[in-house]
Amino acid sequence: MDSLLIKGGVPLRGEVRISGAKNAALPIMAAALLTGAACVIRRVPDLSDVRFMGQILMRLGAEVRFEGDTVRIQARQIKGTGDYELVRKMRGSICILGPLLGRLKKATVSLPGGCVIGARPVNLHLKGLEALGAKVTIKGGYVEVAAKRLTGAAMFLGGRAGPTVLGTANVMMAATLAQGVTVIESAACEPEVVDLASFLNAMGARITGAGSPTVTIAGVRELHGAEHEVIPDRIEAATYAITAAATGGEVTLCGARPDHMRAVIDKLNDAGVVVEANHSGLRVRRGGRLKAVDITTLPYAGFPTDVQAQMMALMALAPGISIITERIFESRFMHVSELARLGADIEIEGPSAIVKGGRLLSGAPVMASDLRASAALVIAGLAARGATQVNRVYHIDRGYENIDGKLRQLGARIERIEEA
Ligand code: EPU
Repeated sequence: MDSLLIKGGVPLRGEVRISGAKNAALPIMAAALLTGAACVIRRVPDLSDVRFMGQILMRLGAEVRFEGDTVRIQARQIKGTGDYELVRKMRGSICILGPLLGRLKKATVSLPGGCVIGARPVNLHLKGLEALGAKVTIKGGYVEVAAKRLTGAAMFLGGRAGPTVLGTANVMMAATLAQGVTVIESAACEPEVVDLASFLNAMGARITGAGSPTVTIAGVRELHGAEHEVIPDRIEAATYAITAAATGGEVTLCGARPDHMRAVIDKLNDAGVVVEANHSGLRVRRGGRLKAVDITTLPYAGFPTDVQAQMMALMALAPGISIITERIFESRFMHVSELARLGADIEIEGPSAIVKGGRLLSGAPVMASDLRASAALVIAGLAARGATQVNRVYHIDRGYENIDGKLRQLGARIERIEEA
């Protein structure tokens, strides 16, 4: 298993190009299952999760071709079964369920199971598909959905923690080919949902309201091929912004969309970080001393759970006490004990982490547990004195394109140690 060896203490400087958003690219690739015609998707990040979605689509019978950051998908004839072996490796693969049901009127997909960040149920996905007329059966670890025909319906998709991103995506995709009008209340408002809706509309769907809590989908008879460019990854951009602040450097995030990052920019400003929009994206630098700020993760447009771990690494460096509350995933604090190995003082109290910041961090070997936790460890390692080895780095390759290359370009002393 590869690891990253970091020698900390270098302020990062320069420009970094933000890649396409993983969490937009995955459902958009799945949406190509809704038509037999060719789809061309651009600005697709080169990530293991994306290549894996490509494999899933091929196993379903689609032709998938990667050419640089473009992927061409044509799903002329497909089967409706997503096996356990494929689905268990990536929880996001559940987003094939909606398009398979829409296109074939039936699908059998393995239930993805939980992961280290929480239970991750799919009850809301199934509630929405049932509302469209699908019969849902759970058997042998698989969910089977089938309908003679799908009929538009009004539904409420809010859950315990608010809306669901991939649940909204699944229902939206199935509803494009339903008869009549579907209205999703408490829909997820994330920019990735908006990006999926624009791709679906380019394929001939009739979706309005994406980005608001009420999304309306007027069903059509069929969809056609389309071309689309994926939005820049707001989570990757936030991660590099925090890295610049943590190392006391100055970094320009080329292509970043400030309109997708308001909550993160606002918290960074409160923490003493200067973020300026310019013609190429966002320029980020530390304004003076870092300040401790409290953070609560929320559905969009609130502070994203996918940036919680990275912000905790920054707060470990800010003198004072910061309370970080996780409201989306109940156990997304796996990074806490690893940050403690670098010298951070963090205690967990229920859904909150209390960070007593301002201590000097010093390098140590640490273990990555999930994608964003790994990013937090890289940030802490870059800010720490001495050497940090981040093990199990495959987690980070799931969601950050060429992270070591991009960081090196900004002056970081980081190398990948490949294990045979
Ligand atoms: N939930 C339910 N029932 C459901 C679905 C979700 O109770 O049927 C709950 C979840 O347990 C959680 C909350 O609703 O408490 C929100 O989960 P959501 O469904 O929105 O998460 P997701 O769609 O499975 C996507 C991203 C995650 C990101 C979350 C929240 C993709 C591929 N994944 O997951 O990304 O954290 O939205 O913004 O889009 C990551 O990139 O590191 C990552 C984990």
